[in-house]
Amino acid sequence: MERTPEPDLMNGKAQAKAYAEADFSEPHENFVDLFKEYFSRENGSSPEEVLTENVLDLGCGPADVIVRFANRFTKCNIVAVDGADLMLEHAREAINKAGLVDRITLQKVYLPDEPIKHMDYQAIISNSLLHHLKDPQSLFSCE
Ligand SMILES: C[S@@+](CC[C@H](N)C(=O)[O-])C[C@H]1O[C@@H](n2cnc3c(N)ncnc32)[C@H](O)[C@@H]1O
Repeated sequence: MERTPEPDLMNGKAQAKAYAEADFSEPHENFVDLFKEYFSRENGSSPEEVLTENVLDLGCGPADVIVRFANRFTKCNIVAVDGADLMLEHAREAINKAGLVDRITLQKVYLPDEPIKHMDYQAIISNSLLHHLKDPQSLFSCE
């Protein structure tokens, strides 16, 4: 079967606004719950306690997931990347509003071609990005 990916970057003004204003509270809280469950199982400790370093979020969109993540796991810092300027503007607004500017750094990156801020990441998260990429496998070889 031939795969037809969505257009990758969400840079339309109306599209970015509609996505930023949509209520994703249930799936996004569930994402954070599942992260906690898997992380605890793999590491034998809860992320509230041991997630104290940097976390990378790929395709952060308007930052709803990472704001929830940062509010739950309060000892980590987050680098969040997206290739769409408009989404990053919504993300910046949400992060300011949540008072998380000291802990969340935004970076414009087009994946998989452009390099991500190089540092050690204790965890890498991503929600609803893979289906946008022309070659999903490329996500696993980003540098
Ligand atoms: C469906 S949204 C998901 C946003 C966020 N992770 C969430 O769960 O709310 C997908 C995001 O990935 C971004 N994106 C898609 N393809 C990308 C690419 N090749 N490089 C960087 N960002 C990309 C889009 O601009 C959009 O903000």
